[in-house]
Amino acid sequence: MTMNDATAGQAAGEPAAAPEPVCASADIAERGRAWVWDVLEYGRPARAFVLRFDGTPRAYLNRCAHVPAEMDWQPGEFLDAGQRWILCSIHGAAYEPADGRCVGGPCGRGRLVALQVEERDGRVYWYPSRDIRPVPFD
Ligand code: FES
Repeated sequence: MTMNDATAGQAAGEPAAAPEPVCASADIAERGRAWVWDVLEYGRPARAFVLRFDGTPRAYLNRCAHVPAEMDWQPGEFLDAGQRWILCSIHGAAYEPADGRCVGGPCGRGRLVALQVEERDGRVYWYPSRDIRPVPFD
C-alpha cells in the first residue's frame, strides 16, 4: 500500500472521507500517461490527475500554479520528454512529481494542489477533502 504524503485541504481532526475509486493500478504505468478525472473544488468543476512516479501514485489538480490552466500536453500527458518533471504545456513551469513543488519556470514558489491517494488490491483510490469532492452521479 502506498499513500501520498499530502493531505490536500484536510483540516486537522477532520474525519477522513471514504475513499473513491479512480482507476486500476495497471492504468497508470511508471512515468506514463496519467489518469484524469473530474472533481469539484469548492463546488466548482475541476480536473484531477494521477500518475505513477517511482512506483507511487501521485495525484494533483490539473491546474498550474502560474496561471490557473490545465497543464497536459495531450490528454493525460504531463511529464517532460525525459519523464523526470511534470511540465506545464502553456509556459513550461516544471514541478517535482513526488510532491508537486515548483522546481523551475514561472511557477515561482507555487506548487500543485495535491490529492491524497492510496493503492491497494490492484486499484487506486483518492480521498475527498473538505474542499475537493467527487462529482455526484445524476
Ligand atoms: S500556465 Fe503553466 S507555466 Fe504558465
